[in-house]
Amino acid sequence: MCGIVGYIGKNQAAPILLEGLSKLEYRGYDSAGIAIFDNNKIEVAKAKGRLAVLSEKTNDGKSVTGTMGIGHTRWATHGEPSDVNSHPHLSMSGRFAVVHNGIIENYISLKKMLIEKGFEFISETDTEVIAHLFEYYYTGDILDAMVKVINRVEGSYALGVLCSDYPDSFIAVRKSSPLIVGLGDGENFIASDVTAILKHTRNIYRLEDNEIAVLNHDCVTVYNNDKEEVKKEMFTVDWDVSAAEKGGYEHFMMKEIEEQPKAIRDTISPRIKDGRIVLDDISLTAEDIKNINKIYIVACGSAYHVGVVGKYVIEKLCRIPVEVQVASEFRYCDPIINKNDLVIVISQSGETADTLAALKEAKNHGARILSIVNVVGSAIANASDDVIYTWAGPEIAVATTKAYSTQLTVIYLIAAYMAEKLGMFTTGEYSQFVNDLQSLPEKVSEILKSKEEVQYLASKFFNCHSIFFIGRNLDYAVSLEGSLKLKEISYIHSEAYAAGELKHGTISLIEDGTLVIALATGQELFDKTVSNVKEVKARGAVVMGVTTDSHDNMEDVADYVIKIPNINEILLPSLSVVPLQLFGYYVASLKGCDIDKPRNLAKSVTVE
Ligand code: G6P
Repeated sequence: MCGIVGYIGKNQAAPILLEGLSKLEYRGYDSAGIAIFDNNKIEVAKAKGRLAVLSEKTNDGKSVTGTMGIGHTRWATHGEPSDVNSHPHLSMSGRFAVVHNGIIENYISLKKMLIEKGFEFISETDTEVIAHLFEYYYTGDILDAMVKVINRVEGSYALGVLCSDYPDSFIAVRKSSPLIVGLGDGENFIASDVTAILKHTRNIYRLEDNEIAVLNHDCVTVYNNDKEEVKKEMFTVDWDVSAAEKGGYEHFMMKEIEEQPKAIRDTISPRIKDGRIVLDDISLTAEDIKNINKIYIVACGSAYHVGVVGKYVIEKLCRIPVEVQVASEFRYCDPIINKNDLVIVISQSGETADTLAALKEAKNHGARILSIVNVVGSAIANASDDVIYTWAGPEIAVATTKAYSTQLTVIYLIAAYMAEKLGMFTTGEYSQFVNDLQSLPEKVSEILKSKEEVQYLASKFFNCHSIFFIGRNLDYAVSLEGSLKLKEISYIHSEAYAAGELKHGTISLIEDGTLVIALATGQELFDKTVSNVKEVKARGAVVMGVTTDSHDNMEDVADYVIKIPNINEILLPSLSVVPLQLFGYYVASLKGCDIDKPRNLAKSVTVE
């Protein structure tokens, strides 16, 4: 996820772009850049680090002259944060400058093709292929080149493109990444979201997938990819700046919950080719996988909870023993590990001090490190033998949602990848699993469509003093995350228990009216969990059951039931966690809590 702004008008462009980018820093902040057209050539200024570094370098934009330009604030995906990897990217002759938000999934094959045609690449980004493709296809008509480029690239993109042959216009397009056009008075804009341009205009065009906008200072023309003009309806934004930043949501947490289908899709789809999981990112060979003796999963907080799901998933699919430990314990427990062990380290930020120290401890014992990280070029990513990035984009809310979900997705990719190499799947099972994995975004969207049902349940229970979550196996693993989500943002005491363990002590805390959220999604253990539900009901508990569409007898025992769609049982955690995130959110919202910044918590904990 990155931020894009573009401007054409009568005023100096650079200060307007930098000001707009400052409103988009929540979308990415590891580097920034601008490209300005002036005196028949394109000038580029870019810098690694926060936008402030670029602002200082350009005297708040005042030192770069010209009245048309594009700008970008980056959240690294392909290639670590650096001056050269930051946008805009230029084509070889310097005729085109490109800013991009999204992921070009076929960039490796395009890069190979362009290198064969003599193009030289200077960055590690997927975006640079777009700049070169423009040059490759350009025969004097920018619109024509744009159509050819978008017909060649696969993946998601929002693009702003300057061409030095066009002193009075620039061009933009989007597909599966956001981009709006702002309509001003004698000036026009593009932006990833309205926050960047609200100071100048509230009138916008919303671009549909593959609609191309050509911007002049006094008009904007929109075309489809057959180069036919499209009549757009103007939309007037009535959000204030803070609501606009959150995409109209009240909190980043809800925005991020809603972004999960896209984040999961972005994480999965570049790694599935022709029905097979392809992990180009890692060097683990089939031979290496066969030689793994044991797997450790090490992480903190929600990332640790992903690890707990991971244990069940990897053991079930690969039959390799897995031990999960919180990083702060692992680092001091003198772990018995060696070079035949694989240590999977999970971290959204890639900077968590305990997780990094645990990684180093494992490395000192000679273990191989595979990390699952969201921030490209972070300390944990750099210290690992292999990294698989989650393409969740920046997560702002302290309580993680989309990072958790994408980490889980990567666990599924790794487990199925290894199981296939170990010969644990029949062909039919493997393709079914891959299909099911690809259906996750759609099923998560389905759950999100009925979020009001969860909101209603939250309205009944937001005054509770204590809430229990129970489940068995995978359901237990998800209970841990559901309980954490609730307590960290709503400050309601909560505990997650393995359903069968409750009777060994904690059941004494169940009294009249205590809410117990019981997860019973899997077929095999459904009846066992139902028995535990009856035990707590008998002690006065009110029970909210979470189960799949195929279990219609949950209603017989639970007071309230939340249903999730059916899917391969191993994948159910990706679905069952969603209503629990929503429940935590709505309870906290009804209690008036500071949802995005809960007390005493930090997003990234870089101290021990
Ligand atoms: C903090 C956050 C948690 C997060 C944990 C691990 O405690 O509040 O939400 O799960 O750190 O962070 P990481 O960046 O390593 O995933």
